[in-house]
Amino acid sequence: MLNNHQLDAIKAYAKEALNDDQTGHAMDHVMRVVNLATRLAEAEQVDATIPVMAAYLHDTIDPKLVADQDQAVAQLRTFLQTNQITSSDIDAVMDIITQMSFAKTLNGERPSLSKAGQIVQDADWLDAIGAIGIVRAIYYGARHQEKIYDSSIPPREYLDEQSYRNLADETIINHFYEKLLKIKDMLNTPAARQIAADRQIVMLNFLDDFKDEWDGLQ
Ligand code: ADP
Ligand code: NI
Repeated sequence: MLNNHQLDAIKAYAKEALNDDQTGHAMDHVMRVVNLATRLAEAEQVDATIPVMAAYLHDTIDPKLVADQDQAVAQLRTFLQTNQITSSDIDAVMDIITQMSFAKTLNGERPSLSKAGQIVQDADWLDAIGAIGIVRAIYYGARHQEKIYDSSIPPREYLDEQSYRNLADETIINHFYEKLLKIKDMLNTPAARQIAADRQIVMLNFLDDFKDEWDGLQ
């Protein structure tokens, strides 16, 4: 269990680390992941302490957001120790946040995660789909100068970790076929899969309408 002081400190640490993010990893994303992780932990009857801590901290060591990941990991460990988090809880959180990203699944591997880790991964991935997922893809794509759509560029069939970050010729609509529509079948927990079912329909309807409007059919 975390006391209020520890929880406030963890939240402030995340806020500080993500301060300026404009690629869809700001504190609003973190708060949704915390809420979803809490919900999934309840559904899976898992204590929410580790999922909540990992959800708050999951993007603070992300290689996309920090210049030096090893340094960010070391700094986070020190912070947690200073706030009297036990070393076994620190290890549990670190194992999760260093292994849970979507990019890590792209080399045909699926890093093994604890039950708490599976919950946080599901929570993070759920926030990439549905209505929020549509907005985040547009936000990210615009930030990275992606085209909206180009019917002459087919979605890439296979992505590895490096090509996932290679945005030459990437379009916002292709991102749905390359990643977002696949997420529902990659989730770990039944509760997350149930939430994803509705979000999938939101995305599929959006893509249908988008294409009709693009083609002047609607
Ligand atoms: P994570 O938070 O799991 O590390 P990413 O950094 O890959 O996820 O993605 C952050 C958000 O931006 C997600 O909603 C994701 O779907 C979206 N995104 C990632 N890559 C692209 C892309 N090439 N085009 C549009 N959206 C993207
Ligand atoms: Ni995230």
